[in-house]
Amino acid sequence: MKKTVLITGSSSGIGRASVKYFQKKGWNVVATMRKPEQEKELTLLENVICLELDVTRPETIQKSIGQAIERFGHIDAVVNNAGYGLFGPFESTTREQVERQFNTNVFGVMEVVRQILPHFREKKEGTIINITSVGGRMTFPLFSLYHASKFAIEGFSESIHYELLPFNIRVKIVEPGAVRTEFMDRSSDRAGALAMDAYRSYVEKGTAYMDHAVQTEGSDPEVIARTIVKAASDASSRLRYAAGRDASILLPLRKFIPDSVFLPIVRKRVMG
Ligand SMILES: NC(=O)c1ccc[n+]([C@@H]2O[C@H](COP(=O)([O-])OP(=O)(O)OC[C@H]3O[C@@H](n4cnc5c(N)ncnc54)[C@H](OP(=O)(O)O)[C@@H]3O)[C@@H](O)[C@H]2O)c1
Repeated sequence: MKKTVLITGSSSGIGRASVKYFQKKGWNVVATMRKPEQEKELTLLENVICLELDVTRPETIQKSIGQAIERFGHIDAVVNNAGYGLFGPFESTTREQVERQFNTNVFGVMEVVRQILPHFREKKEGTIINITSVGGRMTFPLFSLYHASKFAIEGFSESIHYELLPFNIRVKIVEPGAVRTEFMDRSSDRAGALAMDAYRSYVEKGTAYMDHAVQTEGSDPEVIARTIVKAASDASSRLRYAAGRDASILLPLRKFIPDSVFLPIVRKRVMG
């Protein structure tokens, strides 16, 4: 039987590349996004439907899961990809910005998981793939809230992976390194980054480093999409998948090098 995947944040970047790669590999794809009415390309692909889903609006999650099941009969995998990065010094970040970051990157993921579980339990199988980041296991300066959101999803995913195993529901975490998408542009909330003079030179250095790193060392989104499809197709109970060359190097280094050595290296590389 043809498998069906539902992906959040399919309008661009990793989500969009995943829609295309799953489709190419023979899956039915439910490409969800905030503004499906603006989508021109994905709607033309066979076995792909584009539906409205804003992870901060639970009613849109419920509606698109219902429509997807109606159209394809079942959902086999969900990819929680939608997300963005809040960038800047913590001190200049407003409470509203913090809430928005967590509403999207953390509570949005949890809501999708909450809503898909009854279907997966009824089917007695399913796969949940949460896209975190290298930044879910190590940090860079000026991304504290983004890291906090991705660390939260790492812990959440690891814990539910135990409790869902008896129901034959697999949880997978895909951890990309830098990826050339709209993440550092349109999907970056930098509104308060330069709000405080005290941090100005620090922020300017950090911004230059991050932008340069993504542009020069970033993977293509297709590379991450391949890892996501691999995770969805992997029948094992493996939990974590590094995605991209930098991730495959950085994550083992973070694991095996002690803080006393690792943290000064990051400090020096990012802030000079
Ligand atoms: N690029 C990187 O370097 C990198 C590295 C590690 C991890 N990641 C993670 O990869 C994921 C995808 O990011 P990307 O790099 O592909 O960036 P992207 O091209 O900017 O894509 C982000 C997607 O998330 C969607 N989105 C944002 N808020 C949403 C909401 N409330 N409801 C539904 N969709 C929402 C955006 O939709 P709209 O078009 O409506 O704004 C967009 O489709 C994110 O979780 C990000 O944290 C990215």
